[in-house]
Amino acid sequence: MAKDKTVFTCSDCGASTPRWLGKCPSCDAWNTLIESVAEGGGAAKNRYTSQFQGLAQTSALIKLKDIEATDIDRTPTGLDELDRALGGGVVEGGVVLIGGDPGIGKSTLLLQALDALQRKGLRTLYVTGEESGAQVALRSRRLGLERSEVQVMAEIQLEKILSTLHKERPQIAVIDSIQTVYSDQLTSAPGSVAQVRECAAHLTRAAKATGTAIVLVGHVTKEGALAGPRVLEHMVDTVLYFEGDTHSSFRLIRAIKNRFGAVNEIGVFAMTERGLKGVSNPSAIFLSQHEEPVAGSCVMVTLEGTRPMLVEIQALVDSGGPSPRRLSVGLDRDRLAMLLAVLHRHAGVACMDQDVFVNAVGGVRISEPAADLAVMLAITSSLRGKPLPKGFIAFGEVGLAGEVRPAPRGQERLKEAAKLGFTVAVVPKANAPKKSDKAFAGLTIYPVDRIEEAMSCVRGL
Ligand code: TYD
Ligand code: MG
Repeated sequence: MAKDKTVFTCSDCGASTPRWLGKCPSCDAWNTLIESVAEGGGAAKNRYTSQFQGLAQTSALIKLKDIEATDIDRTPTGLDELDRALGGGVVEGGVVLIGGDPGIGKSTLLLQALDALQRKGLRTLYVTGEESGAQVALRSRRLGLERSEVQVMAEIQLEKILSTLHKERPQIAVIDSIQTVYSDQLTSAPGSVAQVRECAAHLTRAAKATGTAIVLVGHVTKEGALAGPRVLEHMVDTVLYFEGDTHSSFRLIRAIKNRFGAVNEIGVFAMTERGLKGVSNPSAIFLSQHEEPVAGSCVMVTLEGTRPMLVEIQALVDSGGPSPRRLSVGLDRDRLAMLLAVLHRHAGVACMDQDVFVNAVGGVRISEPAADLAVMLAITSSLRGKPLPKGFIAFGEVGLAGEVRPAPRGQERLKEAAKLGFTVAVVPKANAPKKSDKAFAGLTIYPVDRIEEAMSCVRGL
């Protein structure tokens, strides 16, 4: 096969040059030229015109109301927590991108899922570019899958993977990982932006053409984003992130984009000696066990997807040097700086000369602002060296003016706290239940409007 010519296209202005340059000759931007396969000039044009003509002759317009909305057929993987994140199961021709730190358990989970699907009678394929077949077999032993019928292919060349997909027509294929796959058409190294983008585009097209559901495993950068261009996330139907502290055994899998289901839904797993096991009732796993309350700890109820979970927020405030540090694990650092300013201005709690560290226990990452109140109470508690009362929870967003704003679905959060035996809750006024409800029995609820109010309420407890 003759090699298609490659060109370098500017990701900013779209201009292309035949060779790589540091600066785009058209828009003068630096480092924006990315290698791509050139569309063969005349032939491509002809293909396009004939395509359009073909379309004009054959396609009719249909009113939206006349299109039948068929339900998407999903095949559950059998791993309930993964299905939850996927929105019910794998979809024919659907493309899933799954990212996460090295060693978090991506290969383990996908091998388990493939085996479960294979047992249901689906044709499955596991393409490994990172490990040899023998290494995959070793892992499968550990998982108790030594008799697995899953087909394994150790291959990194895109063209070979594509022809296998077309020939074997598996119903689901895992590509582990997209960064190792390379196309002959491009000269850039495997893992480069150009290669990842091109290979993902071809695989996505193959998924749509053959009906094979494809799962792409993606590496993450040091900052925690999926390596490779953003366009990867646009191309696929579902983006899942695997997160968790490698030192704790719990792992969360979170949907951040899903064309076939809800986003922010999370599945919870525990890494065991024999692979990942789903945790069906995760509400209390992110609490550390203190016999007696300790200073700097406040429990909040976070609601990710459809399930409320209790998470402990810890803070340590300690006298710092000339430029005090603000560090957060599992919470947004910019938001922490903002909350410290609000604490100072509206509640008179000054941490200017202090180091402030905050941590969401168990490696969970909390992105919702409903954590604000708990973060601020934990910081104040640590600064004063005074623990919050036993059985205490708090949640609510705090604004720059010091107002406490409601969290979505507050009553569900409160119900979960009551169910787990918590006794005192400080929550935004709008989240407090109106009537006495049996579901909140045993929970004394203090509704607050402002941060000062929350502080004085806690002081009085
Ligand atoms: P792996 O799936 O290889 O991670 P990834 O593909 O995301 O890089 O997981 C590797 C880690 O999981 C490794 O540190 C060992 C651990 N592990 C277990 O604890 N139990 C098991 O049964 C397996 C297979 C792995
Ligand atoms: Mg792996």
